[in-house]
Amino acid sequence: MSGFDYRDDRLFVEDVALADIVGAVGSPCYVYSRQVLTDAYRAFAEALGAQRSLVCYAVKANGNLALLATLADLGAGFDIVSQGELERVLAAGGDPARVVFSGVGKTEAEMRRALEVGIRCFNVESAAELARLDSVAGALGVRAPVSLRVNPDVDAGTHPYIATGLKENKFGIPLAEAAACYGQAARYTHLSFVGIDCHIGSQLTELRPFADALDRVLPEAARLRRAGLPLTHIDVGGGLGVRYRDERPPTIAAYVALVRDRLAAHGLQDLELVLEPGRALVAAAGVLATRVEYIKETQAKRFAIVDAGMNDLIRPALYGAWQNLTAARRRPGPAREYDVVGPVCESADTFGRGRMLAIEPGAVLVIGAAGSYGFAMSSQYNARPRPAEVLVDGARFHVVRRRETYEDLMRGERVVREARRS
Ligand code: LLP
Repeated sequence: MSGFDYRDDRLFVEDVALADIVGAVGSPCYVYSRQVLTDAYRAFAEALGAQRSLVCYAVKANGNLALLATLADLGAGFDIVSQGELERVLAAGGDPARVVFSGVGKTEAEMRRALEVGIRCFNVESAAELARLDSVAGALGVRAPVSLRVNPDVDAGTHPYIATGLKENKFGIPLAEAAACYGQAARYTHLSFVGIDCHIGSQLTELRPFADALDRVLPEAARLRRAGLPLTHIDVGGGLGVRYRDERPPTIAAYVALVRDRLAAHGLQDLELVLEPGRALVAAAGVLATRVEYIKETQAKRFAIVDAGMNDLIRPALYGAWQNLTAARRRPGPAREYDVVGPVCESADTFGRGRMLAIEPGAVLVIGAAGSYGFAMSSQYNARPRPAEVLVDGARFHVVRRRETYEDLMRGERVVREARRS
């Protein structure tokens, strides 16, 4: 189910009219469909079939507790990149034994906390991190489970900001150096080398780069096993793209089939397969609703000025990303061309250019596929309280994060006046 469909001329999220949500919680607001999220998770689970596996949702895509709890209830694990994400997972009732910890800059405190709660695995990205983890685990008197994130040096064919698998990227350990790192396993008395992983980038719309990466990493995994390393899992990262405009990304089923096929081809199908999808799980489950404040016509352009800004959804400004824009209510009148812009004082604060829309001031616009990297990347820039988040569940909806207040904006700050000189 798409979860977001027009009934007559009104957009519904599951069985709730979007306009009713905006009427109740105000604008702008993020609106998520529990059903769409659930369906995406189930698509992974079904495609994985009998394969021993763990779908670790990449929390960075959207860390709202209600979404994390929904996924935890479905049996998901979580891929985290900070202690903050770990605390979110725990607060949502996620199982720490299903958590993998990625990221190039883990601090000692973060490692300690993750060891204390007993996470599943650390995805380690450098020799220096191995040494640090060994000493933190030693001080706690425990053994840290480790997977090395290797960098296969493949071109993900995605936006350079979100490509991570090239040798010039900061991520991972060069594949050629991985064997040497694993070879030193005996030196680290408080580490257990249990896995190998890679993640080559995000919003991949073809299978090819995934296949290329696997065909580099899996032979190395097979070699390590033959050499006696007791690997128990392989983590293939995330990165599966979604459709924003006219992309034709592989389906979840096709993607998982490819991974399983490559595992089998390299004789590794008995390993547990860990996946770290973010966007593929939540992008289509969310929209950002925003109201048109003004229509402004200049000699050059016609602008629709909306009440959401680049602080609420930064993808178009940051990556030049295209996201769909539609009116929550279809009107008969002729569509006209608009640049849809926010109130923030930067020209980058543009959600779309030259969009054909039939709208008037007060109309609600809907920015599509905003469930991933939307709220998660929001800020308070221009002293703008962040929007509310709403979860729709059939005919009901719940505010799962209230709109921030002006007090929230200033929380923790204080004024310090210059001491008076006598
Ligand atoms: N695993 C690791 C180690 C990652 O770095 C990422 C994303 C994922 C998994 C999840 O990737 P996904 O399945 O969502 O593609 N802000 C950007 C995307 C940044 C992705 C960063 N890493 C955007 O809005 O397009």
